[in-house]
Amino acid sequence: MPLVTTKKMLLDAQKGNYAVGAFNVENMEMVMAVIQAAGELNAPVILQTTPSTVNYAGLEYYLANVRAAAENVNVPVAMHLDHGSSFKLAMRALRIGYTSIMIDGSRELYEANIRLSRRVADACEASGIPVEAELGKVGGKEDDLDGGGGSAYTDPKEAREFIEKTGVDSLAVAIGTAHGLYKGEPRLDLDRLSEIAAMVPVPLVLHGASGVPDEMVKKAISCGICKVNYATELRIAYSEGVKEVLCREPGAIDPKKYGALGIYKVKHFVMDKMHTCGCVGKG
Ligand code: 13P
Repeated sequence: MPLVTTKKMLLDAQKGNYAVGAFNVENMEMVMAVIQAAGELNAPVILQTTPSTVNYAGLEYYLANVRAAAENVNVPVAMHLDHGSSFKLAMRALRIGYTSIMIDGSRELYEANIRLSRRVADACEASGIPVEAELGKVGGKEDDLDGGGGSAYTDPKEAREFIEKTGVDSLAVAIGTAHGLYKGEPRLDLDRLSEIAAMVPVPLVLHGASGVPDEMVKKAISCGICKVNYATELRIAYSEGVKEVLCREPGAIDPKKYGALGIYKVKHFVMDKMHTCGCVGKG
């Protein structure tokens, strides 16, 4: 199917009390794995690339891969810019055909975040492309950048004002998750999440889901999360597949051979998380 935007996908999830899985992809094999999983489970899916991924191979490369793979399945597939780091990058992604854009102004002061998010939302509106913004600071190492001194949880009242002033379509919230793996068990502030969900009309996004126990993700979804982002664990799954083959056969030189086990591992990881998100059969 041709790509769709995340607009209806996330509103359907919000109405249906489930979440759509959003998976960070870094090469063709990861794209293939995620879309195969979505096709087999009849699940809507979001593939996303961060600025460092885009720097590695270019927006066009990832978009072309996702478009080609999406033609093989009959489920809604969206291509999302994750953690868009500037107005310019957001516009480049919009222009070439990404169907969903995140502008991440969470490093800015509140008012500057509003201005940047508003500017991107206004620019995307004419093309009907939805925008995700972030308020508060998700901890950990994000993309290639350090979180810059821990996290600051999203304030529910500020969140409502932020949505009114920016007009963005979805909001990434900081409630205790962090990018990358956790040292101990993460603790999510679900009361805060419920409060945000009660005050904010747009779908909410959970970043940093790698390493968060499935039961905790399910609770977050029941409190209002409609999009769940997984990155680090896909990297691990792919790398484990490749390493397994190369350890077994150090002389292997055919990338198709070790890529195949990488695809298999990513695909099964993604299928598992689609069950966690509750989006299986919603395609
Ligand atoms: P993880 O790497 O912790 O899964 O975070 C993914 C994410 O939030 C991407 O934006």
